[in-house]
Amino acid sequence: MKSLIILSALLLAGFAAADPIKTDILTLTEDFYLEDLVVYTGENEITNIVVPLNSINFNDHTDLENFDVYVFFVEADKGLYVLKNNVATKVLDNGKDVASSMDDSTQVFIGATDGIYTFNAEKKTAEKYGTLTDNIKNILVTNGTDEIFILTEDKVFYKVTEEGTKKEEITNVKDAIQVVLDPLNNLYFVDSKKHVYVKSFEDGTVRKVKGVPANPKFVELLRPPAIVDDGVPFISGKKVYDVHANATAEFTGLVLTSKPSAYAVEATLVLYFAHDKKIYQYSVVDIINSTAEMMGQVKSFIEDKAPQVKEAAQKKSIRL
Ligand SMILES: *[C@@H]1O[C@H](CO)[C@@H](O)[C@H](O)[C@H]1NC(C)=O
Ligand SMILES: *[C@@H]1O[C@H](CO)[C@@H](O)[C@H](O)[C@H]1NC(C)=O
Ligand SMILES: *[C@@H]1O[C@H](CO)[C@@H](O)[C@H](O)[C@H]1NC(C)=O
Repeated sequence: MKSLIILSALLLAGFAAADPIKTDILTLTEDFYLEDLVVYTGENEITNIVVPLNSINFNDHTDLENFDVYVFFVEADKGLYVLKNNVATKVLDNGKDVASSMDDSTQVFIGATDGIYTFNAEKKTAEKYGTLTDNIKNILVTNGTDEIFILTEDKVFYKVTEEGTKKEEITNVKDAIQVVLDPLNNLYFVDSKKHVYVKSFEDGTVRKVKGVPANPKFVELLRPPAIVDDGVPFISGKKVYDVHANATAEFTGLVLTSKPSAYAVEATLVLYFAHDKKIYQYSVVDIINSTAEMMGQVKSFIEDKAPQVKEAAQKKSIRL
């Protein structure tokens, strides 16, 4: 199914490629946001989107042609919502971020301004988890070991222990303003100076990433697409980079002149971008079948990367 492969390639350019030389540049402009693809229209800016990759969304019954997954998002000043079946439901007024394992569990954790919650899918509500009351900016769950980590608004990074009743500061992750994990549990973070670092899962050492611009106006880490092993997309100014676990980085060729306010590319086969108070869903068929000029450029940019992406996806036994 070539179509699925091509979508996977969208933000992956370079990750799976044997040859890192990329001459093509794709500039995503305002035209990328097609009205047909809007799945939610809010009153305020959308600041975060998360698609859990565990069994709550992806299991043997998942229909890859007609995606209907739980998509969590934060609307500024309104709170955390879940979008499912085209219906948006408020989950938690003060929810900020969402994390899940990548395994067969269906558990989803929510980081809020007053601690950690779990998501009750039947009722679409949040239930308090543990006793911590930290003001959480990011929450992470490790792949395989299901350990929970939180980054607070005070820029302190903790491992959460004893069912959410205790926490231990991770002292070599300092002054962080954003944290993201790759599937091999390497931790990527940016600090308040907008420098990006990687903390190796294997030996716990922290290294500053080389090969990214020195004084960016804007930086952001993205949760990686599921077919990537070690590495995450990183936005510096308007350019998208791949940051690798070995603390190197390379420009992907992707330039965002009209920057989304939030992204979720982790599901790989379906991508979500927020822009100007709206959430857009890009599934394979949408891009392949679109006659819009922007989508034609997207297709030609990613076409030559499709074989490598397919190979990477097959290694991870993602159905294509
Ligand atoms: C989770 O980690 C294991 C190794 O512990 C790895 O084999 C697996 O591919 C990882 N999961 C994903 C989704 O990458
Ligand atoms: C770092 O990792 C990337 C991706 O695996 C690889 O392409 C690159 O050659 C590595 N660089 C070094 C210096 O090891
Ligand atoms: C996309 O295009 C294919 C081939 O032209 C067609 O079979 C399919 O119905 C189209 N899908 C949508 C959702 O438009």
